[in-house]
Amino acid sequence: MTRTALVTGGSRGIGAAISKKLKAEGYNVAATYAGNDEAAAAFTADTGIKTYKWNVADYEESAAGISKVEAELGPIDVVVANAGITRDAPFHKMTPQQWHEVIDTNLTGVFNTVHPLWNGMRERKFGRIIVISSINGQKGQFAQVNYAATKAGDLGIVKSLAQEGARAGITANAICPGYIATEMVMAVPEKVRESIIGQIPAGRLGEPEEIARCVAFLASDDAGFINGSTISANGGQFFV
Ligand code: CAA
Repeated sequence: MTRTALVTGGSRGIGAAISKKLKAEGYNVAATYAGNDEAAAAFTADTGIKTYKWNVADYEESAAGISKVEAELGPIDVVVANAGITRDAPFHKMTPQQWHEVIDTNLTGVFNTVHPLWNGMRERKFGRIIVISSINGQKGQFAQVNYAATKAGDLGIVKSLAQEGARAGITANAICPGYIATEMVMAVPEKVRESIIGQIPAGRLGEPEEIARCVAFLASDDAGFINGSTISANGGQFFV
């Protein structure tokens, strides 16, 4: 039986590594993206993974996009809510717009991605919900009041969904990546990045594939009794 997986923000960064890993594990994979048509086309050409364009911050767009994916690839068994943005600023400079953009995409985006799928998973008595949170949702981060709020919120979402879905064969778990070598982290000023690397006992940034392997495990049948958990993958930078 081939399962279908949806990865939001699945054509770049950590999401691209997740899409590729799930394809390699035998899933039908659909990867969403928000705006970068060129990167998405290159990703599909390179991997053969279908990409779909919608804004996770918009419920109607998400629901319509999910219906399209299910019509083309079949019911979604595994959803990886990965799409996320940063709008970093110290709190005294953070604008309401920076707050709302991050909340709408990173937090409401998880609701918009999972809610349209939820009843189908309940009816089929199987589902895997994997939310990509962050080390900064666990420890907070200077200049990330908005982002840290969303990533801490992700943990509340999975702990609640875990309780609601368990009897229907659905698990919901989070992964908290530390600092991973992606465009998002490379956008941090070099001096700040160097100081962050100095705080990582492993002495290096993580690789996207190291997060993708956590996702593949949580998606598998072997992980069926793991529910409401958080996997921290951060090179020893922070323990909970
Ligand atoms: N801790 C304490 N102080 C800090 C600090 C920190 N981590 N970072 C900056 N500061 C200080 C600066 O030294 C500076 O102090 P002074 O005014 O005394 O010189 C002040 O805070 C910032 O002043 P600026 O005017 O330079 O600030 P800015 O408005 O230009 O903002 C910034 C700069 C946005 C904070 C920038 O430094 C930055 O991007 N920092 C990185 C934030 C970060 O780690 N983001 C994570 C991105 S990766 C990610 O999010 C993925 C994931 O899940 C892990």
